[in-house]
Amino acid sequence: MISGRGSNMQALVDAIASRGFDAQVVAVVSDKPEAPGLLWAQRQGLETRVLKPAGYLTREAYDQALAALVERFDPDYVLLAGFMRILSDGFVQQFAGRLVNIHPSLLPAFPGLKTHEQAIATGVQWHGCTVHFVTPVLDGGPIIAQAVVPVLADDTPNVLAQRVLVAEHRLYADVLGWLAAGRVRLSSQGRVIVDAGS
Ligand code: GRF
Repeated sequence: MISGRGSNMQALVDAIASRGFDAQVVAVVSDKPEAPGLLWAQRQGLETRVLKPAGYLTREAYDQALAALVERFDPDYVLLAGFMRILSDGFVQQFAGRLVNIHPSLLPAFPGLKTHEQAIATGVQWHGCTVHFVTPVLDGGPIIAQAVVPVLADDTPNVLAQRVLVAEHRLYADVLGWLAAGRVRLSSQGRVIVDAGS
């Protein structure tokens, strides 16, 4: 699910082909018809769908329609890749354990928006990205994997965002590979266990 550029989605699609993952993107869904990633997905021959929030009276009503649309594709996993809406509890619960997000910070630091600005303003020397299962707590679900990048003295938010984005693409693709291979599970304590294999 995307809302914009869709570079993470592209990285996932590319990784399936180049790394031979046993996975298939059954659909790319956007809340925004103008999302550039949709065009890219269409050119790859992928199924695309747009569901605009306009016309739905409540967030819950929209999210119910979105869930129905997504369920029709019967996905094993729903990967949020720059999907810029907060999903309501009903949606999150319906896809519990198979709803995954990438967030451009080392959670639990800097949930929400403007993470790169926050990293620079706070003066942290290390920043990065997190792939996590989605729960009703915003950016608070069990962490599957993280990648770290340095924050350099002359970084602007844009420069730092670009460095993090490179890490995002690699990390999300790695996690997709683990998910496709059935190597990710949640412990009874709600922690993620990745089977590193032999
Ligand atoms: C990424 O940094 C993602 O983590 C954040 O928004 C950005 C989306 O980029 N939520 P893209 O649409 O995947 O190119």
